[in-house]
Parts: sequence; C-alpha cells; structure tokens
Amino acid sequence: MRVKLGKADFAEREMRGYEVGSKAVVVGKLAGKYKALDDWCNHAGCLLSGGRVEGNCVVCPCHEVAFDFDTGINVTSREVCDDQKAFQVTVEDGELYVEGLEPDAP
Ligand code: FES
Repeated sequence: MRVKLGKADFAEREMRGYEVGSKAVVVGKLAGKYKALDDWCNHAGCLLSGGRVEGNCVVCPCHEVAFDFDTGINVTSREVCDDQKAFQVTVEDGELYVEGLEPDAP
C-alpha cells in the first residue's frame, strides 16, 4: 500500500514520526535522501522517532539499539532485538509517500 505522509521539507538529518492507521513509520533525511522504518521498536515498542540519528542509523531512545536507516538492520546487538522493517520512501510533487505498508484490517 502506498500512503501519502506529508511535505518533503525536512532539514538534513531531521526525522519525524507518522501514524498511518494502526501503524507508525519514522522518516529521516540523510545525505539528501529520505528513508523510513517501522517506528515501533521491535524490542519493547518504544518510538524510534523519539530517538536520534547517528551516522546512517536511528538509535532507539529506550535501550540504545541502532538500526541502519536504509535496511533496518540492528547494528548494535542481536541479543537485544531483531531487525526493524524498512520501507521505501518516494517524493512526488514535494510530498512524501511511503510504500509497502500493510493496510489495516477492515
Ligand atoms: S525498545 Fe528499542 S531497543 Fe528496547
């Protein structure tokens, strides 16, 4: 499913969280490119959008696990949690779209 999120007007290294139905995605702009991950951390459900950008990663605010913003790969410790789901982001007419979100059940 393709979902429009909002204006593609981020500053470099800025990130924002978006709620999409029952889901949440965190979008960041790194090196001029937009990236998105599932915003709910798969460890204990904290919102990654409340964390920080470090290098090419987003760092969870709760237990400091870093996830690669391109792939969602956990680069800190596999003992803590799994990888995070990554989504493709596109920009069209100045608007951000996220691809691949599962629609909510009716
Ligand atoms: S909730 Fe994100 S690392 Fe624990």
